[in-house]
Amino acid sequence: MRTEIEKLRALIRYHEHKYYIENEPAISDPDFDALMKKLEALEASDPGSIPPDSPTQRVGGGAELGTRFQHRNPMLSLNNSYDESDLQEFGDRVHRLLEGAPVEYVTELKIDGLGVSLTYENGRFTQGLTRGDGEYGEDVTDNLRTIRSVPLRLAETEPTVPSVLEVRGEVFIPKHRLDEINAQREAEGESPFANPRNAAAGSLRLLDASITASRPLDIFVYTLNYAEEFEFATHTESLENMRRWGLKCNPHTACHKSIEDVQTYYQHWVEKRHELPYEVDGVVVKVNQLSEQEALGTTSKYPRWATAYKFDAQQAITTVEKIGVQVGRTGTLTPVAILKPVSIAGATITNATLHNEQEIQTKDIRIGDKIVLERAGDVIPKIVRVLTADRTGDEITFKFPEQCPACGNPVQRTEEEVAVRCMNVGCVAQLKRRIAHYASRDALQIEGLGPATITQLVNKELVRDVADLYALEVEALSKLDRMGVPSAHNLVHQIEQSKMASAEKVLFGLGIFHVGETVAELLIENFLSLDALSKATLEEIESVKGIGPQIAESVSNFFSHNQPLLGKLREAGLNCFTVVAAPTQPQTSQTLDGFFSGKTFVVTGSLEGMTRSEASNEIKSRGGRITSSVTSKTDYLIAGEGAGSKYAKAEELGIPILTETDFFAKL
Ligand code: IVH
Repeated sequence: MRTEIEKLRALIRYHEHKYYIENEPAISDPDFDALMKKLEALEASDPGSIPPDSPTQRVGGGAELGTRFQHRNPMLSLNNSYDESDLQEFGDRVHRLLEGAPVEYVTELKIDGLGVSLTYENGRFTQGLTRGDGEYGEDVTDNLRTIRSVPLRLAETEPTVPSVLEVRGEVFIPKHRLDEINAQREAEGESPFANPRNAAAGSLRLLDASITASRPLDIFVYTLNYAEEFEFATHTESLENMRRWGLKCNPHTACHKSIEDVQTYYQHWVEKRHELPYEVDGVVVKVNQLSEQEALGTTSKYPRWATAYKFDAQQAITTVEKIGVQVGRTGTLTPVAILKPVSIAGATITNATLHNEQEIQTKDIRIGDKIVLERAGDVIPKIVRVLTADRTGDEITFKFPEQCPACGNPVQRTEEEVAVRCMNVGCVAQLKRRIAHYASRDALQIEGLGPATITQLVNKELVRDVADLYALEVEALSKLDRMGVPSAHNLVHQIEQSKMASAEKVLFGLGIFHVGETVAELLIENFLSLDALSKATLEEIESVKGIGPQIAESVSNFFSHNQPLLGKLREAGLNCFTVVAAPTQPQTSQTLDGFFSGKTFVVTGSLEGMTRSEASNEIKSRGGRITSSVTSKTDYLIAGEGAGSKYAKAEELGIPILTETDFFAKL
C-alpha cells in the first residue's frame, strides 16, 4: 500500500508530465504550487527519508565537470546531406547495401542543442552525460535533474520499465528565452550567448546546479540506445515506448515509404521551421527497421542508416565597418572583417574571417562595402560577395600592414605569397593563440580556459608558455576578472586532468608548424613517445613514411629550440612522459578492407559526402595510412572539389587519382 506521501509524489509527477512534457496542464499553477508545498511540509518531518527521485529533489549539487565516463557505445555524429541529390545518394546507398529490400524512413526535426545521454536504473534517473568527444562524456547528472522535462522517475507502465535504460537526446533553450537570458547576462556584466545552442551548452555545464535550474532548458529524446530485456523492431516503436515511459520525444516525426516523400517533409519544414519555438538546423532521416539499421552499421564517425538533411545556410546583408588583423599561433596574420552587427539564424554576427590578403583582393572587399554574409549551421560566417552596385565611392581599399599589429615587428611574406607572418617568437599575440590551441578540444581539451582568461594570464605574465599553466593556483586565478573561486577551482581541475592526455594530443597541442592531428599521430605511432621524437635526428624523422622534408624540418627545428619547454612539461607530471604508447597493431578487419590495407593515401580538396578528416578515418579504420603530402611513396590521391597543387604533383609523379565517386565505391 502506498503511503500518503508516495501518492502525493505520484500526483505531482503526473502533473509535471502534463505540464512539461505534454504541454497540457491539468491544474492551475497555484494549485500545483500548493501540492508541492504540501509535499515539502510532509517531507520536512522526516528529512532523512526523502528519496532522490522525489519531485522536491531537483536542485542539489552541480556538474562534476571534468569527471568523464565512457559511453556504453560511442555517441556518433550524423553525416550531412545538403540538397536533393545528396539525399537521393543516401537513399540509393541504403537501397544498394540492403540489396533492394523495401525501406521505410523516419524523419525527425534536427534540434539545434547539445547531445546528451540519460541512464535510468530501475526507473530512476541515475546518470547524465554530455556527448563529449563521442567516446567519453562529462557527468552532468545534477544539472540534467533540474530540467523539468527530464523525469526523475519513469512512468510506471505495463509491462514494466527496463531495469536499465539508456536514451539519448538533445538539450536546448527555446528561441524566445535567449533574449531574456542575454539581457540578464549583460546586466551582470557577462557577455551574451551567441545562439541558443551555446546558451544550452553553457547552462548545462555549470558547476552550480541552482543556476542551471534558473535557465529554461528543455529536452527532446530521440534515440533508445539500450533497454535491458526489451527488444523492438522499429525506431518508431522505440519512440512510442519512450513516450509511454514518460520521456519527452518531439511530436513532429513522420514515416515515409520513399525518398521522394522525405523530400516533401523536408520542404514542409523549410517553410515552417521559423514557426517552431526552438532552433532546428535540418531534418534527420533514419531507416526505421532496427534490423536494417544493424545491417547497414556505422563508420567510425556516423551511422550509415541516417543522414542529417541540413537546411540552407541563411544569409543577411550588412556593412564592413573595419578590417582588422589577427595574429595566429604560428605568426600568420589573418585579416578579419569587422561588421555592422547582424543577426543570422539566431546568432549575432559581428565579424567574419577574410582568410588572407588574396581573398580580399579576389572578392574586392573594401571598408564601407555592403556585403552578403552567410552562415551555415555552426560553420563560421563568411562573406559571399560584395554588393558593388551599392558603392558610393567612399569605400576604402585595405592596405595590408607591413608590421605585426601586436608586437610591431616587420612581417614576412612566404614563398607562395599568400600568407604574411610575424616571425617574432616572443610576440604575445602568438603566445595567446598557442595557449588557446593547446587548450582546445582536439588538443588537451582544457575547458574553461577561454580567450578572456588567456589574455589576462599572458598580460599579467602568469603564463609565458604552455607549461606555466600547470603551476597556476586557485588563489591567483580567482583574482582574475570574471573568475570566482568555483570557476578557478574548476579550471585548476581541468588543467590537472589534461595531464592524462596522450602523447599525440600533446604533440598536436604544441602547435608545431605543419603538425596537424594526422601528422602528430603518425609521428607518435613511429617514435612511441614525445621524448624519443624530441631526440630524433632530422633524417630519422624524414625517414617516416608519410613525413615530407618540410614537416621533418619544422619538427626537428622545434625540438632543437624547445627542450626547456619539454623539460617543464615533464616536470609538471604529464602522463605521456611516463607512459609510452604501445606500438599500433596493423589494422585488420573482416570486410571490404583489402583495397585500403597497407596503402598510403593523400586526401585533398573538399569532398561533398564527408569532411577530409572523416575520409581519413574511414581509410585508417580499413588499415590504410594517411599522409599530408604527395610523394613517390603515395599510393593514391583522393581528390575532391578544388584540388590544387597536390593534384598536379600526383599527375606529375604518375600517382593514381581517385575522384570522390571512385573513393566511395572503394569504401
Ligand atoms: S540521431 C548516431 N536525431 O545532431 C547519431 N540526432 O549532427 C544519432 N540531433 O549528435 C543521432 N536532433 O546531438 C538524432 N532527431 C535527432 C536529432 C539529433 C538533433 C543532434 C545530435 C547529433 C547531432 C549530429
